[in-house]
Formats: sequence, C-alpha cells, structure tokens
Amino acid sequence: MIAAQVRIAIAIDGPASSGKGTVARFVAARLGYSYVDTGALYRGVGLLMLRAGLDPTDAGAATRVALGARFDFEWREGSLRLKIDGVDETGSIRGEDVGRAASAVAVHPGVRSALLQAQRDLAARGGVVMDGRDIGTVVLPNAQLKIYLDASLEERARRRHAEAPGVPLDAVRQQLEARDRQDSGRETAPLRLADDAEFVDTTGRSVEEVVQQVLALARDRGA
Ligand code: CDP
Repeated sequence: MIAAQVRIAIAIDGPASSGKGTVARFVAARLGYSYVDTGALYRGVGLLMLRAGLDPTDAGAATRVALGARFDFEWREGSLRLKIDGVDETGSIRGEDVGRAASAVAVHPGVRSALLQAQRDLAARGGVVMDGRDIGTVVLPNAQLKIYLDASLEERARRRHAEAPGVPLDAVRQQLEARDRQDSGRETAPLRLADDAEFVDTTGRSVEEVVQQVLALARDRGA
C-alpha cells in the first residue's frame, strides 16, 4: 500500500546558533513547505523597543509594542523577509543587541500571548517548518514532527563568531550563555525539550547530514 503524502507541521526548537534556521530553511525548501522564523517576531519587538528608547525589561511597554505592531513575512528571491508595519526590517533585526532585546522581551507573558495567534495562523494550513524556542511545547503542541536541535556551546560560539567576526570569540560565548540561561530559565514558555521531540545534536555534523536526518523523520510522519 502506498501511503498518501500529507502536509505536516514541523516544529524545530533549540538554543541560539544550534542551526535551527539553516536546517529549517533547507527542510522547508526540499518539502515545498513554508518556513516561519518565529525568532524574527521577538527580534522585531526588541528592535521597536530599542528604537523607541524603551527598556526591554518593561513588561507593560513591551506588551503594548507587541500588540500594536503588524508583522508580515514575505518570500523574496529565495529569502524570508520580515515587514513591520509595512516596512522591510529584515536587515535591522539580526544583530546581537537586537537578539538580547528579543530575549528580554520574550520573558513577558503579555508579549508571548500577543504573538501566539499570529504564529498559529501561519501554521494553520500545514506544510510548514517553524523554528523557535517553544514551538513544540506551546505554539504547535500537535505538530506531527518535533525536533530539538542542539550543539556544544563551543561550536555554537564558533558558528556565531564566523557570522559576525567583529566580536571576540570569548565575548560571543558569554553572550550565548547568557541568552540560553534567560531563555531556558524564564517562567513562561521556557526553552525545553518537549516529551515527544526528537533530540538532534548538530555538533561536528554538516548541515546536509542534519537536513537528511530531519527529512527522513518527516517522511516517517507522512510528509
Ligand atoms: O537566531 P538566534 O538563535 O540567536 O535567536 P532567534 O531564534 O532569532 O530568537 C531571538 C530570541 O527570541 C531568543 O533568544 C528567544 O528569547 C526569543 N524567542 C522566543 O522566546 N520564542 C521563540 N519561539 C523564538 C524566539
């Protein structure tokens, strides 16, 4: 019997620089699925806070900003773009200062609930690969495939350092550790391995190897 192919939802969670975005993008492309980078939404809120001169630890202000902004994802020439209130901010959200602000605003329950429905709407039709910190545990608890990607701190620091060589490796390692601690230690939707997630260690492995492993797991689930 040949099983019918279905358009499943794939949740990929893990710490900073574990390879989530790269793996998610390739897996989505191979399956003809859409890719949703949920970290971009938290980064977007962080960016707006910094621009407005607001303190990202201020829960009320961050929640108002998250509720007031309109986020749209768009695919252009093979890359995922984020528009905030109609303006393309893709180039403005990637820095570590914005990453830190994102992690600070992501602690607030009001911010998380403001962004929750938008994320679920993006996955509603299936055929999606979504990456973040709480996708398998909170956003898409019924995702047919949940992956938890990890890599050693040393390797993650090397990867991030290669992307932004201006910052010394030691400082990059410390920034990653601080962000991991904040993301895993928060009360609302902390980064953790879902009970039914597949743990995939990417340390010392090529992107293609990991992509093939995730694709095999996706096919097992009917993709
Ligand atoms: O690219 P990187 O792994 O450094 O981070 P990201 O995925 O862009 O996420 C930036 C920050 O947003 C994280 O450090 C988390 O604090 C937060 N985030 C979250 O809380 N929940 C998500 N689903 C995605 C991101």
